[in-house]
Amino acid sequence: MKKIGVLTSGGDAPGMNAAIRAIVRTAIAHNLKVVGIERGYTGLLNGEIKELQIASVGDIIHRGGTILKTSRCERLKTDVGINEAIHILEKNEIDGLIVIGGDGSFQGANKLGRSHIKVMGVPGTIDNDLAYTDYTIGFDTAVNTVLDAISKIRDTSMSHEKVTIIEVMGRRCGDIALYAGLAGGAESILVPEEKYEVPKVCEKILQGKKRGKAHNIIMLAEGRESAAELQKEILNHTGIESRVTVLGYLQRGGIPTAVDRILASKMGAKAVSLLMDGKSNRAIGIKDNHLIDIDIMEALTKRKVFDQEMYSLSQTLSI
Ligand code: ADP
Ligand code: F6P
Repeated sequence: MKKIGVLTSGGDAPGMNAAIRAIVRTAIAHNLKVVGIERGYTGLLNGEIKELQIASVGDIIHRGGTILKTSRCERLKTDVGINEAIHILEKNEIDGLIVIGGDGSFQGANKLGRSHIKVMGVPGTIDNDLAYTDYTIGFDTAVNTVLDAISKIRDTSMSHEKVTIIEVMGRRCGDIALYAGLAGGAESILVPEEKYEVPKVCEKILQGKKRGKAHNIIMLAEGRESAAELQKEILNHTGIESRVTVLGYLQRGGIPTAVDRILASKMGAKAVSLLMDGKSNRAIGIKDNHLIDIDIMEALTKRKVFDQEMYSLSQTLSI
């Protein structure tokens, strides 16, 4: 192993920069060259590649987003795109590639790893939707960002005695809604993994009102219906007007938490060390607080198990 390339792909996540920093500095500490590939797979196909030095990753550990930029790239989903990407990696004498991203990015990495180029996947996505790892880089920060929003919205919701719907990201994964909802004391947490019926959500609002509950916070994970649709349904069932806040990209940016910076630093360093050991097609993860690495394909075929225990707890505590 002489030269390592690193790229970030898919949705950016706080902590990606800490992972880039760890990769660059671990590699240089072992006398390897490191190049940064800009704009994810799009930049790879355009040959947007530059050498990174120790100083290139100075002053970035505390920054959200990704200094390498990111993209979604349809061309890499085709065989032509994959062959082109392999050719560009070879031309640039990159023999190890570290991809920081989510499941889509790992699909691409896995295909690139069918060549003689060795690849590693570092999980970077706020969604926490990769089943093989307990946590992905960016999730903890996103949960804390959402929690901060809930606390602020709660002040207004309580003062005006309103029903408030807060829609959060997660694609098909309800973890952000679940974790932030439990920590924020939401009355209802609606996620794609759990069937819910709007009349029951409404019943809970009405029952609460009868008992003197002044306000009601509903966490809605994107994926099943929009907050605007739910708002209409609640009005139809109860006659109560609710307010909607869609947090959107607010959740993806921001200063990474210590948890995400540490996770990213450990995972980035691990990816380099596995490449130096001659390993390929490994996805780095964390299980029961220990770093793990498993075959990328195996990582992608695992089905995420929703935390039922945490979900029931949230229901018990939000009566
Ligand atoms: P994430 O990595 O966060 O899940 P996406 O699903 O948007 O984000 O995937 C990021 C990029 O990974 C895509 O734009 C594409 O370039 C690449 N990718 C996704 N799926 C595949 C696939 N099946 N084969 C090759 N590349 C893929
Ligand atoms: O980063 C993941 C994610 O935030 C998903 O939760 C969401 O569905 C998606 O990205 C939306 O991102 P974009 O608008 O960039 O496609």
